[in-house]
Amino acid sequence: MSDWLLDPDIAYLNHGAFGALPQAVADAALDLRLMMERCPTDLMARRLPRLLDDVRGRLAEFLSADAAGCVFVANATTGTATVLNSLAPSFEAGDEVLITDHRYGAVASQTARVSTDRETATVCAHVPLSLSSPGDVVAAIIERVTPRTKLLVVDAIASPTGFVFPVQQIVAAAHDHGVPVLVDAAHAPGQIANDLAAIDADFWVGNLHKWVCSPRASAILSIAPRWRSTIRPLVASHHFDLGLQEAFDWTGTFDPVNVLAVPAALDFWDAAGWDAIRRQQRALVDDGAAKVAAALGTQVPITDAFRAAMRIIELPTPLSREQGLDIEGLLAARYQVEISVMHVHDKSFVRVCGQIYNTADDYERLAAGLSELLES
Ligand SMILES: Cc1ncc(COP(=O)(O)O)c(C=O)c1O
Repeated sequence: MSDWLLDPDIAYLNHGAFGALPQAVADAALDLRLMMERCPTDLMARRLPRLLDDVRGRLAEFLSADAAGCVFVANATTGTATVLNSLAPSFEAGDEVLITDHRYGAVASQTARVSTDRETATVCAHVPLSLSSPGDVVAAIIERVTPRTKLLVVDAIASPTGFVFPVQQIVAAAHDHGVPVLVDAAHAPGQIANDLAAIDADFWVGNLHKWVCSPRASAILSIAPRWRSTIRPLVASHHFDLGLQEAFDWTGTFDPVNVLAVPAALDFWDAAGWDAIRRQQRALVDDGAAKVAAALGTQVPITDAFRAAMRIIELPTPLSREQGLDIEGLLAARYQVEISVMHVHDKSFVRVCGQIYNTADDYERLAAGLSELLES
């Protein structure tokens, strides 16, 4: 735990929400900041494009992506908004944007906004937590495709459920119907292995501050060749018309340290080995979630094939949104335990994560605290 900036007194089971910073990455980011501040003009006006290219190249290798189609965005929210905003002018009244009932709330807000502006419909596919084969997940989504579907937005790993979607199969099936796919991969970089060339999504956006643990916040948006002249940043600046990366690399003055520190974060994980890390994360969260479910007398849904480092544990009774927020606050204040309460498919769940700084004791504290709170 001393390798991380987290308060050691907190059982921090909410890594998926905002990530957390390893000491080594914080040190590297501070060095970068000091380097920048010695001559901001030199860094911002002259060296930045080359430095961003270097980070892009390293990330493209990490994600098996085509560096030529990768741009940086402030966060996943900006990435999905960027794609929707660029595509929306081509949507006509009655067209449909297909999402799932695992999607992130911000994405639902964005598609709703497009629906209002363009008189399109947002269609929502129901993906039951009990599904156990990738083919059934693909079918649950693709059966909602119609001739009016202009875009499918699907999660790589869903926020409210931790469900790992078989994105490669989903993209292939959507393409068979001529439907482009935006993958909301906010949780994917680091938490799972990603082969963007194989996934072949039209658009894929992943956060780097969550499971890669670079400083908050930055994200990478990968755009397939056929869309590179369509996708433009939300904010136009000097180089808007010069080309894809030129337009995104400068959208006005920003703090580049978060992006420039990404290689230090990748180095941190490379040293331990991603496969070993992922096995450790899964073992921690599998054991921990099972203990919490046993204490509550409930279950941990979602089959092993669709699990990574986040689990949801069913609560004995559904809670209102306010009750869920109260539980989160009370767990933090009384027991120093951080989790998220999620509401999906008319049930409520506690979402826990497994990160290498966690211990079995963290989940035991949650089990004890939650049992007390729910009994009182
Ligand atoms: C699936 C998903 N998409 C998008 C986001 C938005 O990420 P950010 O707040 O970094 O933009 C999140 C954040 O948790 C998420 O879980």
